[in-house]
Amino acid sequence: MLATEADVLRTLRTGTYTLHELYDLCEQRTVTGRDGGHDPVPGHAGDHRWKHRVRRALASLRRAGRADRISRTTWAIQGTPDEPARLLLIIAGAEPREFELRLAAAADLLAQLDMPADLVLCDPPYGLGRGTGRHYSDGNGYRRDHTRIVSGYQDVAPGEYEEFTHGWTQAAAAALRPGGQLAVVTGPQRAGLVQCAAEKAGLTWVSTIAARREFPLATTRRPASAHWSITVMCRGPLASARRVFHPPADLPAPRTGHPYPLDWWPDNGRADRPGLLRYDNSLPLRLVQRTVSAFSDPAEHVVDPFLGAGTVAVACWRTGRSFTGGDVNNGAVRFAAARLLAEHAWPEDQQPALFAAETLGCPDATAVAHAARDFLPLTGASRAASAGSAAPPSQNRARR
Ligand SMILES: C[S@@+](CC[C@H](N)C(=O)[O-])C[C@H]1O[C@@H](n2cnc3c(N)ncnc32)[C@H](O)[C@@H]1O
Repeated sequence: MLATEADVLRTLRTGTYTLHELYDLCEQRTVTGRDGGHDPVPGHAGDHRWKHRVRRALASLRRAGRADRISRTTWAIQGTPDEPARLLLIIAGAEPREFELRLAAAADLLAQLDMPADLVLCDPPYGLGRGTGRHYSDGNGYRRDHTRIVSGYQDVAPGEYEEFTHGWTQAAAAALRPGGQLAVVTGPQRAGLVQCAAEKAGLTWVSTIAARREFPLATTRRPASAHWSITVMCRGPLASARRVFHPPADLPAPRTGHPYPLDWWPDNGRADRPGLLRYDNSLPLRLVQRTVSAFSDPAEHVVDPFLGAGTVAVACWRTGRSFTGGDVNNGAVRFAAARLLAEHAWPEDQQPALFAAETLGCPDATAVAHAARDFLPLTGASRAASAGSAAPPSQNRARR
C-alpha cells in the first residue's frame, strides 16, 4: 500500500522498464531488425510502433530465459520513473489487454487514441478556484494532512471553464464509437454546463444520475450539496442497439424482482484512505466501478482524460476493461501508475500460475512461465481457461 511519495517512487523504480532499457535490449538481441525497428523515434511521441518493439523485446528475453523482471505486471515507460510521460502495462497472469497512461491534456489525449472509446468516464476539474489559496480545501478546511496528498492538482480558472468544457467534450464526442457513451461526474453546479456542451458536440442525453456523497460541506443559506451528478450522453440515437446499459446489480431491487433501475444511487462508498497517500478530490472506487459496469461491457475500451488518482483505471483493472487515461499533472500519472501496481496488480499476481512452471524445463522456468502467458499466442489449454473465465456478453441492453 502507498503511504508516502517515497513508496510511489520505489514502486515505479522496481515496476518499470524505461524505453532506453528496452531499446538497448532490442539492440542486443537484434529483434528490432524487422519493421523499421531501428528507425529513430524522436521523443517517442505518437510512435505507434513502440508497443510492438517493447513486446518483442520482452518476448525475446523470455525466450532467453531472462524474464525475471517480467514475472509480475510492470509498466514499460517513456520518460523516467520520476517523470513518466507515457506508460504501457505489460500484464502478467491475465488476459492481455491495452492499458495505457499518458501525461497529456484531455483534448489531446482524446484526439490521439489508438482505438475508439466505448466509454469516456471522467471527473473533470470543477473550476472553483482550487489551488488559488482561496478554496476551502486549500487551507485546513477539511482538516486534511496535506503531507498525505499528492501535489500538483490542476484546476481551471473559473472564467475559462465554459470554453474548456466545450473543448474537451467536443474531443470526447469525436473519440466515441457509434453507441459509445460519455459519463461525466460533477457537482450539481457544473452538470448543466457539461450537458449543454455535450449536446452541442452532437451527443444525445441518456440520464443524469444523482449519486449520494458522504460528508457534504455544511451550509446555512442553501441546501448542502449531498450528491454528485453523473451526466450520461451517447453518440447516436438513444435507441442505438450498440448502447450498453446494465442496471447495477448491487442497488436495491423492487420486490417484484424485475429490473427497475433508478437514477438515484445511494451508498457509493468513500474515497478517503486513512493513513495512506491520497489524491485531492478523488472519487470513491465503488461509485466508479458501478458506473464502469453499468455503461460498458467487459473487454471494452474505457477512457478517462482526467485521470487523477487513477480510480477509473483501477475499476477497469478489476472489471476486465481496456483503459487509456491521461492527466496534465505528472504527480497524478505517477501515483495512478504506482497505485495500480502496488495495490491491485501485484497482490493479484501472487495467485497461482495457470500452468506448472516445471513443465517448461528450463532454469528460469517460473519467470518464463509467467511471461509466456502474456506474450505467447494462446495455447489451446490457456484459451480454454480464459474462455471459461470471461464474463458473459451483455444480455441486457435497455433501449431507453
Ligand atoms: C477531479 S480530478 C480527477 C479525480 C479522479 N477521478 C480520481 O478519482 O482520482 C481532475 C483531474 O484533472 C486534471 N486536469 C486539470 N486540467 C486538465 C486538462 N486540461 N487535461 C487533463 N487533466 C487535467 C487535474 O490535475 C486533476 O488530476
